[in-house]
Amino acid sequence: DWTMSSFIDEKIEEIKRTVGDKKAICALSGGVDSSVAALMVHKAIGKNLTCIFVDHGLLRKGEAEEVYNTFKEKFDMNLIMVDAKDRFLGKLKGVTDPERKRKIIGEEFIRVFEDEANRIEGAEFLVQGTIYPDVVESGTGTSAVIKSHHNVGGLPEDMKFKLIEPLRELFKDEVREVGRQLGLAEELVSRQPFPGPGLAIRVLGEVTEEKLSILKEADYIVRDEIKKAGLDKEIWQYFAVLPDVKSVGVMGDERTYSHLIAIRAVESVDGMTSDWFKIPYEVLDKISRRIVNEVKGVNRIVYDITSKPPATIEWE
Ligand code: XMP
Repeated sequence: DWTMSSFIDEKIEEIKRTVGDKKAICALSGGVDSSVAALMVHKAIGKNLTCIFVDHGLLRKGEAEEVYNTFKEKFDMNLIMVDAKDRFLGKLKGVTDPERKRKIIGEEFIRVFEDEANRIEGAEFLVQGTIYPDVVESGTGTSAVIKSHHNVGGLPEDMKFKLIEPLRELFKDEVREVGRQLGLAEELVSRQPFPGPGLAIRVLGEVTEEKLSILKEADYIVRDEIKKAGLDKEIWQYFAVLPDVKSVGVMGDERTYSHLIAIRAVESVDGMTSDWFKIPYEVLDKISRRIVNEVKGVNRIVYDITSKPPATIEWE
């Protein structure tokens, strides 16, 4: 609509005036906020923006490729894809405590990002996808606050960049609308919330390559079937969890002792409270059959029927 497009035009002009012919960098996560922020700045300064995508190996199946296809292929942005999977897995080895995992991932993310950022000569500005609720939540108003707890992209305050935060005045649905107007695909614009530490907090206990790969495949099936059932716009979050449990099963005439997958789906307004979503039995049945048939190493599926509180949306 008119107001939205004039907002976009004005912001782009403002960014042009601020940055001039200097350079900016951005940590692209694939999430809505950083994607839209990056796109706006790209419209303003083009190749003087370099985006850095840190692939920590904890994303859902196909996500890194999607980021590449969108930002490199479609929008022709300067994009650096950093394959840091081994670095992250190495740091997570032997770690089982959820908060430790978060901390390690957050810190490692900053290190990897800094390493890359330092290689980009003459970058003076840092683009952040801070949106209005983040500004309010952090409570400090005008100073350049960087999301830390809820965003792995939280960057150290001593980085000497000037911040550009084009979405600071916007609510989430407005950010989505800006994204649409800038040509971002609907799947990206309306995607479900995804935690910064990614699948590391959905592989319960120690994160290993094997468990991550099982979870990715199972989670892909959950998303695929939810989408096919036309429920993707209705459910706040829906995903698979891999508990640190094995159970006995039987396949053919052989006894199995394999992993368990839990399906989690919730309705919510802001993530603070939630009800478990009642996925129709036929859809659950389809998901269950597909996972045990298609994902090696899984012989049992359970459905999480707790609300928040007392449970949380994530299992860790
Ligand atoms: P919980 O599990 O606390 O989740 O009910 C509430 C919402 O927050 C998301 N979540 C996170 N997001 N970093 C994030 O960026 C995190 O460490 C984190 N933990 C939970 C969760 O997916 C849900 O949307």
